[in-house]
Amino acid sequence: VDLSCANTLRLPCQAERFAAPTTLTALRQTLAQACCEEWPVTLLGGGSNVLLPETLPGLVVRPALNQWWLFTDQLGGQQEQVFAHVGAGVSWHALVMATAARGLWGIENLALIPGSCGAAPVQNIGAYGVELADTLLAVQVMELATGRVEWLNAQQCAFGYRDSIFKGALAGSVVITQLVLRLSRTPAPRLGYGDLAARLASSSLTPTPTPLAVAEAVCAIRREKLPDPQVLANAGSFFKNPLVADAQAAELLHQYPAMPHFPQRGGQTKLAAGWLIDQCGLKGMRDGAFGVHQHQALVLVHFGGGDRQGLMKTANYIAAQVDTRFGVRLEPEPRLVNP
Ligand code: EPU
Repeated sequence: VDLSCANTLRLPCQAERFAAPTTLTALRQTLAQACCEEWPVTLLGGGSNVLLPETLPGLVVRPALNQWWLFTDQLGGQQEQVFAHVGAGVSWHALVMATAARGLWGIENLALIPGSCGAAPVQNIGAYGVELADTLLAVQVMELATGRVEWLNAQQCAFGYRDSIFKGALAGSVVITQLVLRLSRTPAPRLGYGDLAARLASSSLTPTPTPLAVAEAVCAIRREKLPDPQVLANAGSFFKNPLVADAQAAELLHQYPAMPHFPQRGGQTKLAAGWLIDQCGLKGMRDGAFGVHQHQALVLVHFGGGDRQGLMKTANYIAAQVDTRFGVRLEPEPRLVNP
């Protein structure tokens, strides 16, 4: 099965077998068969945050649990909460737009993030000052080995910056099947990040924005900076924003006073990988089939004809340049499947 079109970086990939079960029962049967036949199982969502190898032995499973529904909870007639139960196969962006259009607050800042809802908790997707962890109440998972279904609450998911238990202790042992998000009808705009507030003020006629207006402003900003994977293959941010010790950040700031920096807990400071790459003069650079996007240095793009090995060569070159200049190590954000 050709997965070249099932990953937004368009890396060539041939999987030995592929299944897209649409119910929990079908998923359980698929996993049981893989277990019996001793096929290694690879889980795939929207393919927007993975670095696929040229061949994948065993079975690739992409859950196609495509239903979602809302539960409403009237708390004292005042603060109205709405719980969204979302199947893993639902498109994240479609969910954002559908809930925002219904006047529900919570995930509007996360508009236009590609990928499926089942993949969203794995890296705790985030943008414009909001993370999935802020609204996520619970995650339903199925154990690969037994087919047993269990629920994890948000705390058990151990969310961090682009991180969760699904990348750690539970990696490769469960498949995410459903999310429960807590949304609200009470206006709660979060416009503090970058130029979101200014953008919204210029596009909206009313002083109080709607969740849909916020989502649309986020879409407009992202469209300006980030290449559309349908047009130019990419996987969003290619590197995580690095964390360095406060002392190193202070030293760098002394040398580069304009450097964006975001103090974190625990004596660490987050730097902007895009800025570091940009400063090395790499924005818009091309290395064979791959390159650095001309409007956003954090995004690597694939012009066609390359493979994962070529991409890693370009990525390693960029990381080495940043390391030489700033003494900062960059780590890829998308996940290396079958390294
Ligand atoms: N910058 C540059 N040159 C560049 C790119 C960025 O100087 O080419 C500077 C910007 O001016 C800004 C700073 O770097 O001062 C940060 O840039 P930006 O606000 O564009 O955000 P980011 O750090 O590049 C992160 C997330 C994005 C998310 C945006 C908005 C990571 C790795 N990336 O990007 O997430 O959409 O913030 O919240 O955390 C993704 O994960 O795939 C992704 C796109």
